[in-house]
Amino acid sequence: MSAPSNLLNSKVIPISVAPMMAYTDRHFRYFLRLLSPSALLYTEMITAQALKHADPARLLEFSDQEHPVVLQLGGSEPADLAHAARLGAEFGYDEINLNCGCPSDRVQSGRFGACLMAEPDRVAESVRAMRESVSVPVTVKCRIGIEPRAEEGDDYAFLADFVGRIAAEGCSVFVIHARKAVLGGLSPKENREIPPLQYGVVARLKADFPDCAFVLNGGIRTVADVRRHLEGFDGVMLGREVCDNPYILAELHRAVVDPAFELPSRESVIEAYAKYVEARLAEGDPLRSMTRHVLGLYAGLPRSRSWRRFLSEQANVGQTGPQMLLDSLRIVRAA
Ligand SMILES: Cc1cc2nc3c(=O)[nH]c(=O)nc-3n(C[C@H](O)[C@H](O)[C@H](O)COP(=O)(O)O)c2cc1C
Repeated sequence: MSAPSNLLNSKVIPISVAPMMAYTDRHFRYFLRLLSPSALLYTEMITAQALKHADPARLLEFSDQEHPVVLQLGGSEPADLAHAARLGAEFGYDEINLNCGCPSDRVQSGRFGACLMAEPDRVAESVRAMRESVSVPVTVKCRIGIEPRAEEGDDYAFLADFVGRIAAEGCSVFVIHARKAVLGGLSPKENREIPPLQYGVVARLKADFPDCAFVLNGGIRTVADVRRHLEGFDGVMLGREVCDNPYILAELHRAVVDPAFELPSRESVIEAYAKYVEARLAEGDPLRSMTRHVLGLYAGLPRSRSWRRFLSEQANVGQTGPQMLLDSLRIVRAA
């Protein structure tokens, strides 16, 4: 199996893992890196406001092994975003991404996320300010549109205008979740499921903005999906599938990046992760915040249920160290 030829010229990393609040923290990213040497890993969204007021180290520190890693920011004040981007670059992030796709009410009330698609000038100004403050790439993640909109008009023209104005500020990589965001009325979860996926709209952007790279996101679940989409897009981003079945990242690395890549055994991944867990426990991170990320490691295999069960049983019998991972592994092997 060889990699699709368009990867060779691509200016973006072909596989990325979506920013996901409450999932893509530093522990999950470290675990995922043990599975894939290449995938681009995103942080959870961190707001520019939080970075203004809280201890930035607490929010931004990460392990060297996580590279390449993107800091995703939420916000709508150009000066605050520029400050947050600068902090991100100082902490060593490889890219800064602005969230213009999150539909939650909490996010809307702070005037950021998907509702920013209605304010392209503000986003353009923010991107300009961020680009002026860092030398790493600044990218944007958005939807294909929002509902309702203040003014009538063609949906694609609205989207193309948004992308065009931001591209004019030098942003050349767009991650597009190929659904509209319905603002008000749908929960964030429903907003990831109910508005229909429209990959064709992203394909149209790709044709209309030949100088920009487009990363397709939304509903991508299998190696076959990824291979197919990489024929037409510069990259693909997976979210929920990686939470449910993280091992797909190893399979994807082999399928689309390095056919000679030897798939790591799940056992070796857990053994390496246990060492990380031990080190982080010594820094005061709670065990559960790290072990919860490995639950899906055996997804799709007969051992999946027992792995999950043993992990929770170990926690219940009061295991407080990385040994719980190794013990669960031992029990699963024996089962
Ligand atoms: C639990 C959860 C949290 C999310 N948090 C964010 C976020 O912080 N920033 C963001 O841009 N998108 C967020 N998303 C959306 C994902 O990045 C992605 O766009 C969406 O899940 C569609 O991709 P998928 O179908 O591969 O899951 C989140 C999604 C989930 C499931």
